[in-house]
Amino acid sequence: GIQARARAGDAQTLEALEAALRSFDGCPLKATAMNTVFADGNPQARVMLIGEAPGEDEDRQGKPFVGVSGKLLDRMLAQIGLDRSAVYISNILPWRPPGNRSPTQAEIAACLPFLERHVELVRPKLLVALGGVSAKTLLNRAEGITRLRGQWRTYEVAGTPVPLMPMLHPAYLLRNPIAKREAWRDMLALQQKIAEEGIK
Ligand code: URA
Repeated sequence: GIQARARAGDAQTLEALEAALRSFDGCPLKATAMNTVFADGNPQARVMLIGEAPGEDEDRQGKPFVGVSGKLLDRMLAQIGLDRSAVYISNILPWRPPGNRSPTQAEIAACLPFLERHVELVRPKLLVALGGVSAKTLLNRAEGITRLRGQWRTYEVAGTPVPLMPMLHPAYLLRNPIAKREAWRDMLALQQKIAEEGIK
């Protein structure tokens, strides 16, 4: 909403943005969450990964991707020589939806200005959207992740187009291990792009 956009836009640093988010009461998910999950990894990294929302472990620890999905994500990153010091990680939503249900459009819309400002302040060179909620939200597209993944797309950061790769969510890969083939291809595309742009 308007209030979120004004508050997020006022933040000139990541610290200020996190503080603004922590004191923001415009999203009902905050009431049931234990923690505000802001980010993990290196804010100076050129690669930013954006997931969906905190799960139970993330809500408890206050950090993104620290549960089983996060362990798989770390292994996937390791396969192309990356770890959390080489990337920056956040989510579309900073608060856990009760029982890990899917977030509603209203919940996503309420928080999105903060994530948009978050990306603006980090100014990554490459973006990865993890899962359908993240990909659809960032690209403003209706197709599902199986359609969107596997091709570089574009997300505008303060007027500058930044390449964005939609990938299958690690939680999906845990339920559908056969799909790791596609995820592996997308990780190799990321590795290649990093090499091409000379950005590691
Ligand atoms: N799934 C996500 O999308 N994000 C997390 O932080 C954890 C699990």
